[in-house]
Amino acid sequence: MAAPTGNVMDRIVALCKRRGFIFQSSEIYGGINGFWDYGPLGVELKRNIKDAWWKDMVQDREDMVGLDCSIIMHPQVWKCSGHFDLFSDMMVDCKACKARFRADQLNDMQCPMKPSKHPGEHDKCQLTEPREFNLMLETYPGPIKDEANRAFLRPETAQGIFVNFKNICDSTRIKVPFGIAQVGKSFRNEITPRNFTFRSREFEQMEIEFFCHPSESNKWYEYWRDARFNWYTSLGLASNKLRLREHGKEELSHYSCGTSDIEYAFPFLAEGDFGELEGVAHRGDFDLRSHMEGKLVNKDGQLVVDLGPDGKPKWKGSGKDLSYFDDERKERFIPHVIEPSAGADRGTLAFICEAYTVDESRPSPELMKFHPRLAPIKAAFFPLVNKDGLPEIAEPIYREVRKRWPVQYDAKASIGKRYARMDEAGTPYCFTIDGQTKEDGTVTVRDRDTGAQERIDKSRVVEYLTEKLAR
Ligand code: GAP
Repeated sequence: MAAPTGNVMDRIVALCKRRGFIFQSSEIYGGINGFWDYGPLGVELKRNIKDAWWKDMVQDREDMVGLDCSIIMHPQVWKCSGHFDLFSDMMVDCKACKARFRADQLNDMQCPMKPSKHPGEHDKCQLTEPREFNLMLETYPGPIKDEANRAFLRPETAQGIFVNFKNICDSTRIKVPFGIAQVGKSFRNEITPRNFTFRSREFEQMEIEFFCHPSESNKWYEYWRDARFNWYTSLGLASNKLRLREHGKEELSHYSCGTSDIEYAFPFLAEGDFGELEGVAHRGDFDLRSHMEGKLVNKDGQLVVDLGPDGKPKWKGSGKDLSYFDDERKERFIPHVIEPSAGADRGTLAFICEAYTVDESRPSPELMKFHPRLAPIKAAFFPLVNKDGLPEIAEPIYREVRKRWPVQYDAKASIGKRYARMDEAGTPYCFTIDGQTKEDGTVTVRDRDTGAQERIDKSRVVEYLTEKLAR
């Protein structure tokens, strides 16, 4: 087969569609901008990433509990979090083509109009002055569509955690320092969704809010920055394509006293550029305090949302006491929060980009080198030919292994084609049952990455996979 040509990102997107990792949402109607569907391989991959995160961040730790909050919450949540007033991007309209752009991305954008109608470069045409555009998507629960019934689809899972902080302290025996973790959908009305799933309007987050004593917050901030960076490398992201970048003061969000982004060199970016995979933020006591008092004050004591016309805080807080009493310290305080906030879709995209490999020495040169923990299919079983008693030996082995892991059986096409199909799906091990199996009970096992083959006894297949997949 000929070596693949064209831009790497286009080839990755084509493979994702061809093999059922990611499809455009509502494709038969022409698609809808900023929304994506995960196909049979993609849904397994993304689930494995979320499961790995949950196992490593929640189940394997004694200082973490989980939570699953509703997507629509009381609208006051978003007023006291600052999202209602501050969660916006600057937007400009092009008067010639009527397209809308994020002001900071104007230079990278292509004009959707034909060159004959429009110069195509927005710095040469008429643009409106930048204006603020709130990114929260609105909805109206209940039968009446009026201001009093307006609610929002959550733009982050984090706030559900803050408003449940007291419930969790009261209903469990966990003590500060501890974290609350949540995985779930978030929605942002992005002005210009782009770069495949990187910037979407509906996406999934994997967020932790880690509550600690203020005097220990810098230590925990450093801990989580390193722990989260190392998590990505442990699952196969190359450390030379990942970096930790500390935000400058002017870049910090309204809630943050310090933020580091974990960034990845996605192939759709220019050489040397990196895109955000996860943010690790030191949020101080901003959120718990805002939900108590309704007064949005940053770490320097400055209001981030102006007072109302009567000189009082613009929003009313819950009025609930969200402070914490530490039995050991005999001290009451509002915990500080460290927030590692990861995107499940961006993570999936990074693992896809990292796995994509071209090896022109192979008959079918594109393969996906997923870490065994993340691979959607863990192994495949092939009778060399679909006769001569080989399927009768192969099927029971396959059925036995299937009880433990997602595996596939394939008896059709040449063995080379079957290997190629599994290489593109990222399956780490393929077992072939051949004439020799009938004689001595051994099967061949082929390693996806090296193509090397060895023979093992068919009774050892489960043991072999148990050892390899535990890596
Ligand atoms: N609670 C903090 C928070 O939401 P963020 O940096 O806005 O922080 C965290 O988002 C992560 O969520 C990002 O690092 C990214 O992985 C993911 N994310 C944010 N916006 C996204 C979008 N429009 N499409 C896909 N993923 C997104």
